[in-house]
Amino acid sequence: MRDFAYKRNANDVSRNLMTWYMQSKRELPWRQTQDPYSIWVSEVMLQQTRVETVIPYWNRFVEQFPSLHALAEADEQTVLKLWEGLGYYSRARNLQAAVREVAASYGGVVPKTAAEFSKLPGVGPYTAGAVLSIAYNEALPAVDGNVFRVLSRIFLIQEDISKPKTRALFEGLAVSLIPPGIAGDFNQALMELGAVVCMPKNPNCTECPVQQQCMAFAEGMQRELPVKGKKSAPRLSPMYAVLLQRPDGKWAMRKRPDTGLLAKMWEFPTWSQHELSLEDYVEQLGITHKQVEKLQPVAQVDHIFSHLHWQVSVWMGQLIDNTAGDSDQQLIWLSTEEMEEKSLAAVHNKMKLLIKQREGGGASD
Ligand code: ADE
Repeated sequence: MRDFAYKRNANDVSRNLMTWYMQSKRELPWRQTQDPYSIWVSEVMLQQTRVETVIPYWNRFVEQFPSLHALAEADEQTVLKLWEGLGYYSRARNLQAAVREVAASYGGVVPKTAAEFSKLPGVGPYTAGAVLSIAYNEALPAVDGNVFRVLSRIFLIQEDISKPKTRALFEGLAVSLIPPGIAGDFNQALMELGAVVCMPKNPNCTECPVQQQCMAFAEGMQRELPVKGKKSAPRLSPMYAVLLQRPDGKWAMRKRPDTGLLAKMWEFPTWSQHELSLEDYVEQLGITHKQVEKLQPVAQVDHIFSHLHWQVSVWMGQLIDNTAGDSDQQLIWLSTEEMEEKSLAAVHNKMKLLIKQREGGGASD
């Protein structure tokens, strides 16, 4: 009996949702293509970033790299530069590594099965489900934050969505709702409802196409769902950064290591305050006390990563000769024009702005 009620409810949910989506979906640029590679790019960008932010990035990206082969053959720094400002740079590195694998092992054709596609770097269950359903209409679930919220409300599911095993429950439900032959549109309809109607804090239930079927609405519980265990706050990490300028006008920068946080991105020398004092650090760069003039604090910049909160005390100093710091193999000295060619993470772009403001060119950026 319960099963029967669920089935009827589920059929109505799917039908009402699809009717609404076909009438009112947003005309997003990646919805005008069936090209699996371009759709893949959009889904990777959309994982941690809002639609409005993604649109110009996606347009630039597919213009510069119009095919999977173009991205596979591109220089990594060019890719990171185009990604600059989107954050979570491992997404870009993984995407490029993955398309290189598709070019090398699958003849440049995005594999159709979840088993093959999911083996590629950076492709988790959400990305696999989203790309393969949208590009190839494979009947796979694509459960992201929006879909967790929408389904938990319609079906009044009170399991903690931060627990890994809860994903399987939602994926099973999502698959059971997919109408035959339209998996891509249906998955996007669920996401769309979460983005424009079934919002986290202020769901617009009066406009909702599935209000009649929504069990949370019936119980007045929509604001209580989904249930999400408390995440611990990002760990506070006090850092130093130094902006050192030589008399020739160039600034000390370096490239971060190939792995780990902000891998391969460019930065001003930055380190944990627990590691070394400012004076010891500068000396370690091969710059003596006498070679630095006017080392002074200029700002504090904050950046919150998913697990870490950098609170960076930024110092600036002028060097008195152009050979200071030459013994440090990692330092590269760059003018502000040369910095424009490099990919800097947001926190270092804030420091670059400090420099440009001092040079009188900050307002144009
Ligand atoms: N969020 C994730 N994928 C999306 C898509 N294809 N359209 C709109 N929002 C999304």
